[in-house]
Amino acid sequence: MPVLPVLGIDIGGSGIRAALVDADEGAVLTAPLEVATPYPASPQAVADEVAKIVSTLEWQGPVGIGFPAVIRAGVVATAANIDTSWIGVDATELFGRAIAGTCVVLNDADAAGLAEMRFGAGAGHDETVLVLTLGTGIGSALFYRQQLFPNLELGSLPLRGGSAEEYAAASVRTQENLSWQEWGGRLNQFFGQIERLLSPDLIIIGGGVSQRSDQFFPYLRTRAQLAPARLLNQAGIVGAACQAGKLDL
Ligand code: BGC
Repeated sequence: MPVLPVLGIDIGGSGIRAALVDADEGAVLTAPLEVATPYPASPQAVADEVAKIVSTLEWQGPVGIGFPAVIRAGVVATAANIDTSWIGVDATELFGRAIAGTCVVLNDADAAGLAEMRFGAGAGHDETVLVLTLGTGIGSALFYRQQLFPNLELGSLPLRGGSAEEYAAASVRTQENLSWQEWGGRLNQFFGQIERLLSPDLIIIGGGVSQRSDQFFPYLRTRAQLAPARLLNQAGIVGAACQAGKLDL
């Protein structure tokens, strides 16, 4: 049977990345196309970028979009790291109109987590698995017996007078010029909070920085087993594409 590719798009705080994906195998079929997230990242400006990507790729099939916010039935419910004008926007409807097609929108970390569980470091793990994406913010996706508990926002946990992501996201390491060891210390405080609340058996670390796990994993202390994401920063694209691929669009 010929493979039906699906377009996966991962919208992040600083960049939007897209690629065609074989949703059965979780394989990225084309080199990811990357554009900067517009600033200000208003709903219309982001929708215009998504439309440009779809027309650049001359794509007419299913589209899955990972978005950095709580998404309830297609509607954006939070705006920790995005323009506040997104709150209440029906993202499925907005992007669908922009691309003149149908799409599926889900939280970016949920998308990355689904891909890691199916094709990456979480494959075959039925115990409690937490996937964290460390980037502009901190995304989280929790799985038990491979089932996703959606829209978990562990990056919003209070930590050191602000939120965990304001203290320990990968972007903070760069902005504050922290050493890997200093940043590792911050992550350990975050992990301590998490392990007081949840009891993950495995924590998978994703986001672009997961490519450099050898630099900071030696400083991390968790009760749970730790593993770098295997799909690195392509997990969001793959997971979003897979969600769209499941639907008969
Ligand atoms: C958002 C999450 C998102 C994470 C990673 C946070 O600021 O609240 O929904 O998953 O960033 O992009």
